[in-house]
Amino acid sequence: MSLDFYTIDDLDLDNKTVLVRVDINSPVDPSTGLLLDDTRIRLHAETIKELSNKGAKTVILAHQSRPGKKDFTTLKQHAESLSKILNKNVDYVDDIFGINARNSIKKMEKTDILLLENVRFYSEEIIAREPKHQSKTHLIEKLAPLADYFINDAFAAAHRSQASMVGFAYVMPSAAGRIMEKELKAIYNAMDNVQRPCIYILGGVKVDDSIMVMENVLEKGSADFILTTGLVANIFLWGSGINIGKYNKNFIKNKDYCEFVKKSKKLLKKYGDKIIIPKDIAVCKENKRIEFSVDNIPNNPIYDIGTDTIKEYAGYVMQAKTLFANGPAGVFEKEEFNIGTDDILNAIASSNAFSIIGGGHLAAAANQMGISKGVSHISSGGGASINLLAGENLPGVQILTEYTTKKI
Ligand code: 3PG
Repeated sequence: MSLDFYTIDDLDLDNKTVLVRVDINSPVDPSTGLLLDDTRIRLHAETIKELSNKGAKTVILAHQSRPGKKDFTTLKQHAESLSKILNKNVDYVDDIFGINARNSIKKMEKTDILLLENVRFYSEEIIAREPKHQSKTHLIEKLAPLADYFINDAFAAAHRSQASMVGFAYVMPSAAGRIMEKELKAIYNAMDNVQRPCIYILGGVKVDDSIMVMENVLEKGSADFILTTGLVANIFLWGSGINIGKYNKNFIKNKDYCEFVKKSKKLLKKYGDKIIIPKDIAVCKENKRIEFSVDNIPNNPIYDIGTDTIKEYAGYVMQAKTLFANGPAGVFEKEEFNIGTDDILNAIASSNAFSIIGGGHLAAAANQMGISKGVSHISSGGGASINLLAGENLPGVQILTEYTTKKI
């Protein structure tokens, strides 16, 4: 596989206006609304610093969460955090492409940095469509004429064919940022050297991505085992006929995830020997962690996998030669429920396997635990990295390649 696109090295940036799409979607404390982790902001600071040092007027586009979620919020705090990391003023405007945003861009001087508002506040952004259609959205039509280049550094969102991810590269000179470049090099390299057994550990709450990848890698025979954790595990527990309790069933129903329970049933029927589900879990009862066998789950929220499951999964991790992990095993932000996530990360870090861990939350947990040296690559992308590993094309990358090879 080759990296067939332009990079920052191919651009003359001095005094040029550059739109750079980053992914600084970060964990937010639901009770205070404060950012809990700046891993992704630190990461993209590298690209932003280079652009500014090369004399560009850097206009940053980014998202935070999705509509309807508690952490769907403005990027004001992100701008403050980025300012601190760069030790340089980062302007923020609470507008995406309206008159305030456009005037702020027009006023910029060489080396200035401006962060625009959460692009997902604009509803057209959320609709996934082909680059050609996205190039005709208001976002692209209003901002593209104000800039010389578009740089996509948002590897973690590259599996989304959303306007800010694929629309600009259709109409203007475009290149990959440093993080995009590094991530793709590391993951392509891993894909060229997969050794068996190859184990996927899929958790977190983004069940849509996990199921898609599972179907893909099991169909192709490229995974030996899939260890399920987090909400993914709860869905498979329910799909296997286990009573996960009314609270957990309602949680899944309210998320509109019942279709995934059906899919899990089908996958378990076909690949039951490869998909491993927890044998025990931890629920939150009166603010305490209490563990139960899956035969006996009470009507309380499941917040983690149980101790026996952790031991069993650590055994799988130790026999693996290649490991891909995405998403935390439980509500790791709460201390009593971070055991599954921490122990699995520790097992990965102490194994001899080639390992990639991905997803904003899992990467943040690994960084906070200081285990990054034991992991071969910590990817900023969860859905993006597992989709790529499963052999899917990432629209955000494909459009950069198409621009470069002038297929558009
Ligand atoms: C991520 O955190 O995986 C990326 O920011 C993409 O977010 P999304 O799954 O809401 O598109």
